[in-house]
Amino acid sequence: MAPVNGCIPMADQLIDGFGRVHDNLRISVTDRCNLRCVYCMPEDVSYLDKSELLTFEEIERFVRVVVPLGLTKLRLTGGEPLLRRNLPRLVRMLADVSGVRDIGLTTNGLLLANYASDLYNAGLRRINLSLDTLDPDRFRRLARRDGLTETLKGIDAAIRVGFAPVKVNAVVVRGLNDMDVVPLARRARAEGWEMRFIEYMPIGAEPWERGKVVFAHEILDAIESEVGPLRPVEGYDPHSPAMEFEYEADGGRVGIIASVSRPFCRSCNRVRLTCDGKLRACLFALEETDVKSELRGADDPRALADAVRRCVLGKWEGHEINTSRFLKPLRTMHAIGG
Ligand code: 5AD
Ligand code: SF4
Repeated sequence: MAPVNGCIPMADQLIDGFGRVHDNLRISVTDRCNLRCVYCMPEDVSYLDKSELLTFEEIERFVRVVVPLGLTKLRLTGGEPLLRRNLPRLVRMLADVSGVRDIGLTTNGLLLANYASDLYNAGLRRINLSLDTLDPDRFRRLARRDGLTETLKGIDAAIRVGFAPVKVNAVVVRGLNDMDVVPLARRARAEGWEMRFIEYMPIGAEPWERGKVVFAHEILDAIESEVGPLRPVEGYDPHSPAMEFEYEADGGRVGIIASVSRPFCRSCNRVRLTCDGKLRACLFALEETDVKSELRGADDPRALADAVRRCVLGKWEGHEINTSRFLKPLRTMHAIGG
């Protein structure tokens, strides 16, 4: 079947029942976090026992199996991935796997100032930070912890070390931080961050209501009227979940991830590995494919590759957030990794 999402198909590549080629693997390295963002995590969590987590060696073995299947773009996520001890070592191990095209990291940035240069030197090139507000009180309300100063230091460190672009993600929740859209966009434009606003999705611990979603068009209107006119970026990556815009005046970029109002499932190219070794074909998947028992058992590369193929073949057409059929997955975001 011809791919519908524009990826170039190769022999052995992972194509699902809807013609989507998969080239992107998100690897969650821990379910722990040093924040408790209300849209993501409950205040009281019981973490997995460390023995449940895939070791770096197990992650590397898995990556060696899936790279020849076309999963060549990797992103490390959490929880907060920098809570996993010695993360730069994993980056180096993965960068050394032949065929890996790209390694990224999604972090809340609290610990980034300590690790930015080690990560860069280990081969990391793409970095996404999460920052939902520039107001310390709202930060505390949203993240249920302090951390604004550290996060800003983390962003500065990423820029200083040479990550380019530095993308900063904000989840926008009505009544909590919709008033932060314009200040964040202004600050990002002044400092050279690529700001990306994310519609609030029903995957956190709190009850979700459509009324709390600030839709893409509202975000765009606010930025255009208060920061500056935008135009769509020509030829932006069709696989990127973000709709990309640039300021007409200076070309500074803003992205909007409209998961609710403009689902991008048709161009999805991702699978997710949880920190305890379960493969998920969709962020909202209700089923998982266990790969840890194979990695800890016979460790047969062919059996692993078959499990990955089965998982991708079983992928559904898309999430059903906008229908009455929607069911929230049992895992909340912190245990999937976004
Ligand atoms: N809706 C949208 N985005 C979310 N994230 C976490 N929870 C949600 C949610 N309910 C985002 C984080 C981070 C990424 C890993 O996922 O802000 O940028
Ligand atoms: Fe932690 Fe990120 Fe979830 Fe916030 S969004 S609780 S920083 S994993």
